[in-house]
Amino acid sequence: MDFPDHVKIVEVGPRDGLQNEAINVPTAVKIELIERLAQAGLSVVEATAFVSPKWVPQMADHVEVMTGIHKKPGVSYTVLVPNMKGFAAALAAGVREIAVFSSASETFSSKNTNCSITEGLARFDAVCVAAQTNGVRVRGYISCVLDCPYEGEVQPGRVADIAAELLNMGCYEVSLGDTIGMGTPGRTRNLIEVVAKKVPLENLAGHFHDTYGQALANAYAALECGISVLDSSVAGLGGCPYAPGASGNVASEDLLYMLNGLGIETGVDMDKLIAAGNFICGFLERPSGSKVARAVMAKRV
Ligand code: HMG
Ligand code: MG
Repeated sequence: MDFPDHVKIVEVGPRDGLQNEAINVPTAVKIELIERLAQAGLSVVEATAFVSPKWVPQMADHVEVMTGIHKKPGVSYTVLVPNMKGFAAALAAGVREIAVFSSASETFSSKNTNCSITEGLARFDAVCVAAQTNGVRVRGYISCVLDCPYEGEVQPGRVADIAAELLNMGCYEVSLGDTIGMGTPGRTRNLIEVVAKKVPLENLAGHFHDTYGQALANAYAALECGISVLDSSVAGLGGCPYAPGASGNVASEDLLYMLNGLGIETGVDMDKLIAAGNFICGFLERPSGSKVARAVMAKRV
């Protein structure tokens, strides 16, 4: 199998993970988590979301988080941005990379962002123009690429069209989100093959939630298809407040273990990554969602 030599891991735990926590995580804890993840060698850490605090109160301290972290040179600290208001606030907080987020399902778009897919894309178009003017890089997400919690199975052609639109707007990469983690490797492969007819593989990333225990298998399928950017979440934190029941992303430790085993280079240090996971799980007072982290810790005691 012709795997890539290098995979970029996009760590989304501080955003995708902590946006879904019922308890209030203090800003200082978020900042320490982000700094530990960067120290572990992750080159992209999604730090927070400049979304409405009425919709996602967990991310309301976005300005304090972004201005509080000691930024490590060479690391990209991305943030979610849903509209121009979020973009202006992110820019003022010194953000240099943002992510806009669309959906392949109308109902999810409406539940998550209170607008249709087309209205959302028009907002992102304006954000992309402003970002370009200000030299800010833009990543794109598409949610519900395989299944929607409200509409069921999603047609891959729909995802391909939206991915192409996001790329045309100026997104340098489009991350395909299995938001509710129901996908299986065969469907993942089929999706990527359909999307790759409209968007080059080097501009695609995989974002797999693990609700049905398929995230690592889906990440492997994505690698087999030639994708070399994978999103993951330390300790498997995560979920989306507007996708009830969805669990976290593939755990970064588990993804790293698999990539290491395949001889694929990532630049990420396993011990430091596990320590970052232990730090946040210690605060949240629950075991890690990473099997690898749990196995390694069990051996150490
Ligand atoms: P809306 O209510 O239609 O917005 O929400 P609005 O323009 O009518 O404004 C309502 C209020 O929100 C106003 O405040 C605005 O100022 C304020 P008020 O006047 O009532 O005091 N507001 C904002 N405040 C701060 N930052 C902003 C902002 N915009 C408006 N940017 C909106 C529309 C898009 C804002 C809302 O629906 C929203 O914030 N949604 C975000 C939901 C979200 O963050 N979901 C989770 C992330 S997506 C995800 O997890 C999936 C992903 O991981 C991939 C995958 O797994 O598939 C990425
Ligand atoms: Mg997600």
